[in-house]
Formats: sequence, C-alpha cells, structure tokens
Amino acid sequence: MESPFKGNILKGKVALITGGASGIGFEISTQFGKHGASVALMGRRKQVLDSAVSVLQSLSIPAIGFVGDVRKQEDAARVVESTFKHFGKIDILVNAAAGNFLVSAEDLSPNGFRTVLDIDSVGTFTMCSEALKYLKKGGLGRGSSGAGAIINISATLHYTASWYQIHVSAAKAAVDATTRNLALEWGTDYDIRVNGIAPGPISGTPGMSKLAPDEINNKSKDYMPLYKEGEKWDIAMAALFLVSDAGKYINGDTLIVDGGLWLSRPRH
Ligand code: HXC
Repeated sequence: MESPFKGNILKGKVALITGGASGIGFEISTQFGKHGASVALMGRRKQVLDSAVSVLQSLSIPAIGFVGDVRKQEDAARVVESTFKHFGKIDILVNAAAGNFLVSAEDLSPNGFRTVLDIDSVGTFTMCSEALKYLKKGGLGRGSSGAGAIINISATLHYTASWYQIHVSAAKAAVDATTRNLALEWGTDYDIRVNGIAPGPISGTPGMSKLAPDEINNKSKDYMPLYKEGEKWDIAMAALFLVSDAGKYINGDTLIVDGGLWLSRPRH
C-alpha cells in the first residue's frame, strides 16, 4: 500500500533498528528508508542481515547491517559506535528485537523467563543507554538537527493476562515502564522523545507463526469480535508518524496498533 506520508519526512535522518532485518523491524527499516532515512540494521544472523541490506540497497536506500545480540552490552556499544562512524550521526533508535515462545508458566524454567527479559527488557534499555550520547540535542552528529527519538516495540499481552506468555508479558511491561521513565528523564534533560508501539496480531511475522498457530487464529476470529490481522505496514506507518515532526509533542506514549483487538469481548 502506498504511504500517505511525503517521501522526505525523514530526509537526512539516520536510524538504527534492532531486529531490523526481519518481520516488523524490516518493514520499519524499509519505510524509514523510503521516507528519506539512512538505516543501520542490527541482528544476530549475518545471512538475514545481508539479504535485508541488499533489498534496501536495491531500493536506493543507504543501508548497512551489523551483527550483534542486544543481550551483550559490548555488541550494543560496538553497533551504535559503528552506525555513528558509518553515517556520521544517529537520530532514531528502534528497539524491535524480541524473543518469544509459547510455554505454560508451570513448564517455563527461570532461565527461560530470564532469557526473554534479557532480550526484550534489558536489551531495550542497553541499546537506549549506549545510544544516548548520539541522540542528545546538539550532540555528536554531523549536521545534527534537533534531538533524537526512540521507539520501543511492545505488545498488549500484559494489559490483561495472556495464556503461555508470562515471560513476554513481564518483559513488555518492563519495556513500557522503560519507555515512560526514559521519556520523563531524557525528554526533560535532552528533548529526546521516547515512545512505544504495541502491535496486535500482524500477519507474516515470526510472532504470528510462533505464537498463533492456525487453531488459535480460527478461535480468535470466533470469540473476539474485533479480531483481524494487521500488516507490518500498519506498524511502520505508526513508527513513521511517531518519529517524524508530526509526532513532535508525543512523548512517553505507547501507541496501540491492534485494530481495537485487546478491548474485544465475546458478544453475549
Ligand atoms: C520452553 C524454552 C523454549 C520453549 C527456549 N526455552 N525455548 N522453554 N519452551 N519453546 C528456554 C530454554 O529451555 C532455556 O532455559 C532458555 O529458554 C534459553 O533458551 P536458549 O535456546 O538457550 O535461548 P536462545 O538460543 O538464546 O534463544 C532465545 C529464544 C529464541 C528467545 C529462546 O526463541 C530466539 O532467539 N528468538 C528470537 C526470535 C523470536 O523469537 N522472534 C519472535 C518475536 S515475536 P533452560 O532452563 O533450559 O536453560 C514477539 C511477539 C510478542 O516478540 C508479542 C506477541 C503478541
């Protein structure tokens, strides 16, 4: 679908996107690039990064991939530094890297719980922490104009309770708290806007194939009146809106992009 935004709204901006080579992260990378940004992608799998970067480059989007795991502070520091060295500044950080699997609380080991918190929650904070000096207003960037923006990809699982998702619910609750607290501290001190996006079920993503086998999907359609799948494009448009000047007064919010699904109740 064609974007409703002008093609230059991110002109001259540099964005670093974790998990940026696949799923929702890749669509955000693509749309940011199509709207004028240069993009650096961070991910664990070199092959996936390489093919994502060549797709972006074939669209004439300045793009580079860096292998790294958000669980490792040294990887976070190296990737942020490399992005700065390559593009001369960093304006936008998107934390889209996430880990997940379906498991009952009874069967989940404390290490399984910790693993998902390490990726989603600690990983998000680590990336923000390492990127801070570059995102600051008048910071270290070439031709740096205005302060930076951060987007943390969240979920709606923890608004209520979700079967077999205790680890991710806890992790995303921490992500939302991190979004609000960084918005307060870094919004006040540095004019950096920190927002989140909470996607609903988005077709064609690892989240959908791992977490919503067909039988769950079919049931959802029966029991949740508002159930319909979104597209990766929907999340990328929300991200564009939030990081562009259109979102300049939005700080500390987590925008739900789920077609209203989490509000949904069966009809009586
Ligand atoms: C139970 C499991 C498990 C499973 C792993 N563990 N998979 N427990 N059921 N299916 C446990 C392991 O037993 C181990 O604990 C601990 O978790 C760490 O497992 P590892 O395999 O060593 O971890 P690692 O190789 O680092 O892999 C991380 C991962 C993996 C999260 C398990 O799935 C991953 O890397 N995923 C990244 C991609 C991804 O998941 N994307 C989807 C995001 S979707 P023990 O105790 O045995 O040592 C998404 C949507 C959220 O985030 C919102 C939905 C609405």
